[in-house]
Amino acid sequence: MTSLPRVLLAASAIFNLLLSAQAAYTGSAGCGKALPGALTPGGPSQNLTIQSQSRIGSNTTRQYIAHLPEGFSATNDKSAPLILAFHGQQQPAYSMERITGLSTSFFNKDSIVIYPEGLNIQDPGQQWLGDPEAPTSSVVDDRIFAEELLDALTSSLCVDETRIYVAGLSNGGGLAGLLSCSPTLNKRVAAFAGVAAAYWLDTSLTEPLFEAGCIPQLAEGKKVPFMELHGLNDTVIAYDGNNAAPANNSIPVTKWVDSWVERNGCAGTTPVVETLEGGNVTQSSWSCDGAENVTVHRKINLFGHGWPSTTAQGEPFETLRLGPTTWNATSLVLDFFSKWQLNETALQR
Ligand SMILES: *[C@@H]1O[C@H](CO)[C@@H](O)[C@H](O)[C@H]1NC(C)=O
Ligand SMILES: *[C@@H]1O[C@H](CO)[C@@H](O)[C@H](O)[C@H]1NC(C)=O
Ligand SMILES: *[C@@H]1O[C@H](CO)[C@@H](O)[C@H](O)[C@H]1NC(C)=O
Ligand SMILES: *[C@@H]1O[C@H](CO)[C@@H](O)[C@H](O)[C@H]1NC(C)=O
Ligand SMILES: *[C@@H]1O[C@H](CO)[C@@H](O)[C@H](O)[C@H]1NC(C)=O
Ligand SMILES: *[C@@H]1O[C@H](CO)[C@@H](O)[C@H](O)[C@H]1NC(C)=O
Ligand SMILES: *[C@@H]1O[C@H](CO)[C@@H](O)[C@H](O)[C@H]1NC(C)=O
Ligand SMILES: *[C@@H]1O[C@H](CO)[C@@H](O)[C@H](O)[C@H]1NC(C)=O
Repeated sequence: MTSLPRVLLAASAIFNLLLSAQAAYTGSAGCGKALPGALTPGGPSQNLTIQSQSRIGSNTTRQYIAHLPEGFSATNDKSAPLILAFHGQQQPAYSMERITGLSTSFFNKDSIVIYPEGLNIQDPGQQWLGDPEAPTSSVVDDRIFAEELLDALTSSLCVDETRIYVAGLSNGGGLAGLLSCSPTLNKRVAAFAGVAAAYWLDTSLTEPLFEAGCIPQLAEGKKVPFMELHGLNDTVIAYDGNNAAPANNSIPVTKWVDSWVERNGCAGTTPVVETLEGGNVTQSSWSCDGAENVTVHRKINLFGHGWPSTTAQGEPFETLRLGPTTWNATSLVLDFFSKWQLNETALQR
């Protein structure tokens, strides 16, 4: 009988802990509002728009596709993680949905997924800030679009703001890189992933973005989790950055990865290096200061330009990526994201 009070004490301590955790944070401002448009949990994705200031000096309608996972609350009152998934250059937003499978319950039952669409105001079509052929940030700044999307989504949907993630392919992966460099975005996003991503040298651009322009302003001890996946046979964005003429050169992938190892305060640490997928993948994972695998990189043998997956994706990526892989990047990226969450207390603003 002497153990009973102790059990009660323990139970009430846990209860208090839960109460105080709930009092700290329960979800974004959108929680409890009527679901916007025709969005339904697990239902068809919807084409939505916002009025955006990302085209500098004007209000521009910008498009995105929104998907609610089947596990989303129909009454919009249970907070869910949110993923922004950015497509490659000249691709429509729906290509990213098809390629990643992020809207399928096979991969994702819990996270809201948003597929934003790049603007098409300059050849060669829909694209993101950071490409040498895209308008400069004085004309279109997609970092503003990303902020606006997060504002609009968190105020209309029940989002867990400690679990917002960004993934991108090719030019969209480059944008993921630019968002990780943004001191406002890297405080709102818990983890980033770039796949076959294009991070350009400053000398390949008319303004510094990925090198001198990457000023993440991290507070002491703050880490920005980054996953980078890139094929050694990528002939669009070469692994070593020496792209085929007439394309400009990009930052060597290892240099970009090392820059995040360094910014995360893990410079000089030895990564865990693993050979996986029958020898086709070399994975390096950096940890430091108790942050395990905060930077993870997969160098993929015999893989071209695209999103690794076991299933056919259609053109142009089927040809560019040199066919399917024995693994799915989507599972890997989601698993990486699931390990990272922002500090609830730091979110209160
Ligand atoms: C969204 O737009 C695409 C074309 O861009 C179209 O194929 C699709 O049917 C639209 N979806 C809905 C739900 O209207
Ligand atoms: C954009 O629209 C808002 C409200 O809809 C308006 O207040 C603002 O002046 C507009 N800005 C420009 C540059 O047109
Ligand atoms: C991949 O790259 C290696 C090294 O450059 C080259 O030998 C090989 O032929 C390439 N394979 C394909 C399928 O392009
Ligand atoms: C290469 O970069 C320059 C700016 O330095 C730009 O004007 C040019 O359009 C770029 N070329 C290509 C093919 O991207
Ligand atoms: C390695 O990748 C190549 C090209 O995708 C594939 O043909 C081969 O089966 C893979 N090897 C293993 C052991 O998975
Ligand atoms: C970190 O990565 C290593 C190597 O892949 C793995 O063994 C370990 O379980 C990972 N740790 C976490 C916390 O995910
Ligand atoms: C990869 O994803 C597909 C669904 O797109 C699934 O059928 C397949 O089993 C997955 N493969 C692996 C190795 O996880
Ligand atoms: C979370 O953020 C608060 C406020 O910025 C800080 O006091 C606290 O130490 C942080 N907690 C962790 C676990 O980092």
